[in-house]
Amino acid sequence: MAPEKKNQMDKRPKVIRPLFNRMAATYDRGNRALSLLIDQIWRRRTVSALGIRDGQYILDIATGTADMAIEAARQADCRVAGIDLSEEMLRVARGKNAQSPFPGRCFFLQGDGTRTPFRDGSFNHAMISFGVRNVQDMDGLFRETLRILKPGGRFAILEFSLPEAPVIRQVYLFYFKRVLPLIGAVVAGRKEPYFYLRDSVLDFEPPRALEERIRRNGFRLILSRPFTFGICHLYVAEKP
Ligand SMILES: C[S@@+](CC[C@H](N)C(=O)[O-])C[C@H]1O[C@@H](n2cnc3c(N)ncnc32)[C@H](O)[C@@H]1O
Repeated sequence: MAPEKKNQMDKRPKVIRPLFNRMAATYDRGNRALSLLIDQIWRRRTVSALGIRDGQYILDIATGTADMAIEAARQADCRVAGIDLSEEMLRVARGKNAQSPFPGRCFFLQGDGTRTPFRDGSFNHAMISFGVRNVQDMDGLFRETLRILKPGGRFAILEFSLPEAPVIRQVYLFYFKRVLPLIGAVVAGRKEPYFYLRDSVLDFEPPRALEERIRRNGFRLILSRPFTFGICHLYVAEKP
């Protein structure tokens, strides 16, 4: 059998940005419906893993509609910068932040997480949820995050994965390949984003490979754990 090829999709910013611009209006509705709200538990745990304290500076890379940024602002009196390529995702983010209990704690900027405008060591911690899979230059992203973190700063990465247990994996793959795009079409009104979601998850590297990539780019991996039968995975890394 031919070896599986991974990370073959075109994820250059000029492809990704319009894709998420088209998805922005229905992104949250689709997320909540497809994950049966479990994504909010994963997000809360991911932010908690950073152990954010009052007064700290946090970077939320690929912030999208700001669920993680707003959660960080809820957990501590910190300052969160959310960066994303897509202006339409950021439009939703700013609207949600304005309605949140702590709107002054978050600000947003449009930009590429692999080339941010921040000085070396600007942030206490960083995070990226469901973003790393969409970034063309993953090594560039890790190097840039290492640069903007203070020594001892944590980087939490939340990303989809595929269950390892054979039966659960088969059931999940059936759901993911056949059912998910249909639900997506009903909930969000279009199938295209959910074909992208399906293909990008199937194409993405498994946890062991991502762990190795995190280490190779200069981080110390301090936690790697699956959530919900392994359909999602949390990695926590630290800048030495
Ligand atoms: C699936 S969404 C995740 C959004 C959010 N973090 C969440 O948990 O819902 C992926 C986001 O990554 C952004 N993105 C992809 N590549 C990026 C890059 N190189 N720099 C910044 N944002 C990027 C997209 O614009 C999109 O908003």
